[in-house]
Amino acid sequence: MVVKIGLLGLGTVGTGTAQILLDPSGRNPLLKDITIHRVGVRSPDKPRSVQFPPEVITSDLKAIVNDPDIDIVVELLGGLEPARSLILQAIAQKKHVVTANKAVIARYGDEIYNSANQAGVYVLLEAAVGGGIPIIKPLKQSLGANRITQIIGIINGTTNYILSEMTTAGADFSDVLAEAQRLGYAEADPTADVDGLDAADKIAILASLGFGGRVQREDVYCEGIRQVSAADIAYADKLGFVIKLLAIAKGSGGQESQTLELRVHPTLVPKDHPLASINGVYNAILVAGDPLGQVMFYGPGAGSGPTASAVVSDIMNIVAILKSSGQTPTLDPLLSCVHQHFCQI
Ligand code: NDP
Ligand code: HSE
Repeated sequence: MVVKIGLLGLGTVGTGTAQILLDPSGRNPLLKDITIHRVGVRSPDKPRSVQFPPEVITSDLKAIVNDPDIDIVVELLGGLEPARSLILQAIAQKKHVVTANKAVIARYGDEIYNSANQAGVYVLLEAAVGGGIPIIKPLKQSLGANRITQIIGIINGTTNYILSEMTTAGADFSDVLAEAQRLGYAEADPTADVDGLDAADKIAILASLGFGGRVQREDVYCEGIRQVSAADIAYADKLGFVIKLLAIAKGSGGQESQTLELRVHPTLVPKDHPLASINGVYNAILVAGDPLGQVMFYGPGAGSGPTASAVVSDIMNIVAILKSSGQTPTLDPLLSCVHQHFCQI
């Protein structure tokens, strides 16, 4: 059985995803059963580092989500629209979806997961938070026995890269931002990074998973790093701190009567705190729970390869289930139940 992918987006993450799928040797054999059937972009004639035949690459994204041969739609466009509509249309066509789009999930997660549950399809989003760090599945699945009390993280690679370079090399804010864009870390509109909006989307998703309730994206207090100056960094250093953009979700009262504190802002972090030494594009997420205590997830938080690692692993998870159940796209009742448990946010 060959599983056919409709890849929406061939930018930083789409290219990394295609590169893994086109080079399966030495990786999990499951990859050999996955093929990129069609690719959707804005400008099909643009020169690209990954080549596809002209009949595969198109700007007609609706044709991809409606293509009856496609099993999994991989949404790597970014932005709210047309991403949201295309995801919903793919679900309506009973296609599974993999996305890295935290902006859409943070705002329309309920709508998307309700539709997916009704249609009996998967929507997986490991790449949406923490780039290459496995955090979505571990938080929902491997830490599921805990009463989560707090999630605190550096979850935007661009701003951590900027603050790190300003701190260690005395670099200029706009020069480092330009470099982060060149390296493919920043969003298409880097305002989302610099003003903390991207981190706010991500903490809304993590809080929904960790605290088991519906979190409104608008409830996240959000302040970015535009106002952080070289002088602030120097004074913080003298006082024994580094400045980090932290995303914080703190809960109280257990899942039934949870009150949540949700905020993103530059924070003075003591130099001996585990988050103080996270530099560059790296992200780290501290999760505290009862009876667990505390764990820290750490790794590359943005960029083509690390993010594609998460995207392709999600694709493979779906393919493995499809193969073990021997059916596409309908899920048997047990799988459907597992799906509801793991995907609902
Ligand atoms: P890019 O801007 O590099 O790529 C976007 C791709 O989507 C391009 O191929 C572009 O086409 C295509 N596209 C965008 N809008 C449209 C449209 N309206 N119609 C047709 N094609 C469109 O984005 P990234 O790869 O960086 O990001 C993709 C997603 O992954 C986003 O949701 C982002 O938040 C998320 N993400 C990104 C990470 C990163 O490190 N970059 C890390 C984690 C998540 P064309 O090439 O023709 O312009
Ligand atoms: N722009 C995002 C960041 C990409 O810098 O963290 C990863 O989600």
